[in-house]
Amino acid sequence: MMIPGPTFLAESTLRAMSRQMVSHRGKETGALLTYCIERLKEVFRTENDLFILTASGTGAMEAAIANIVEPGDKILCTTCGKFSERFKKIAEVFGAQVIEVSSEWGDAIDPEKVKVALDENGDVKAVTVTHNETSTGVRNPVEEISRIVKSHGTLLIVDAISSMGGDHIPVDDWKIDFCLAGSQKCFAIPPGFSFISVSDEAWEVIKRTKRKTFYFDLVSYKKSLEKTPPQTPYTIAITLLYALDDALNLMFDEGLENVIARHHHVAKLARDGIKNMGLKLFPVREEICSNTVTAVKIPKGINDQEFRQKVRERGVVISGGQDKLTGEIFRIGHMGRVTEREINITLNAIRQALSELKFPLNEEAIL
Ligand SMILES: Cc1ncc(COP(=O)(O)O)c(C=O)c1O
Repeated sequence: MMIPGPTFLAESTLRAMSRQMVSHRGKETGALLTYCIERLKEVFRTENDLFILTASGTGAMEAAIANIVEPGDKILCTTCGKFSERFKKIAEVFGAQVIEVSSEWGDAIDPEKVKVALDENGDVKAVTVTHNETSTGVRNPVEEISRIVKSHGTLLIVDAISSMGGDHIPVDDWKIDFCLAGSQKCFAIPPGFSFISVSDEAWEVIKRTKRKTFYFDLVSYKKSLEKTPPQTPYTIAITLLYALDDALNLMFDEGLENVIARHHHVAKLARDGIKNMGLKLFPVREEICSNTVTAVKIPKGINDQEFRQKVRERGVVISGGQDKLTGEIFRIGHMGRVTEREINITLNAIRQALSELKFPLNEEAIL
């Protein structure tokens, strides 16, 4: 499984999920919930509130928007791919007036353009940024964007769904008001949980907002967590909590900095391997390449479906392009438990598939 989530699970995580049910409002769940949240805060490098939602990543995106948007509010959405465009769609559903600052798919958001848009529009309530645009393999300059957003007194919502845990995203240092992560990505547990941190500044806005959401009303998550025992307003996916506990144990045993360093290392291996074969990375510059997913241009004359089928026959699953990039790129996910071993197996499978399809591989790659 070398797609950009869901990622493959450790044996211990699989075993952790075979435990019996307990009450979702009992002491045992309360203690586990608290312990998981404490450690998630360390991963997020934040002292802000943090909640676990039983919902996939999009649920956390919706929660961030739903808690601060009233019809007519201005939301600035930075867009450069499928997932960043999703924020725009969600904001529109909640009646926001969306101001879009976009970049070509394959390029990163230009912070200067964000500054210009904020200077022109004095009353923007929040800015959305996708840290790791999974659809294009691009990492956006959140720290630079944050400096601009914060100097305008605006809230910053960051989707770190496919990078939190695998890359540096210090939430407090970067003054991120809402930061979102997904369970099936770098945390290497099944899909179904998302995590959302909420700053004090964000709470001020939430309290003033006429919120049109029930399941994602963050005030009820906060109240439930303050109960004895701590809990969630609606039934938490207990099995996923077992998995999360185990996955966090593994991450802390390895060391959070080491986990990030491993992600950086395997990302570079993937990029170098791809370039050595004579293939081209999709992002326009290597410095904006993601550390958790590598997007590669499909060479002329190679059919995407046929190519990925041949890779699959070698036991490796990679992803194709999404939306307008269908048939144009393929993507290798390297997040979660991925090591050099899986990267080498993946690169070999790609090399063999291309060679079978008569793609003229660089000699260096054949050696
Ligand atoms: C950057 C990003 N945002 C949002 C999502 C949506 O998450 P989910 O599919 O878990 O709802 C994904 C999923 O791939 C993603 O990579």
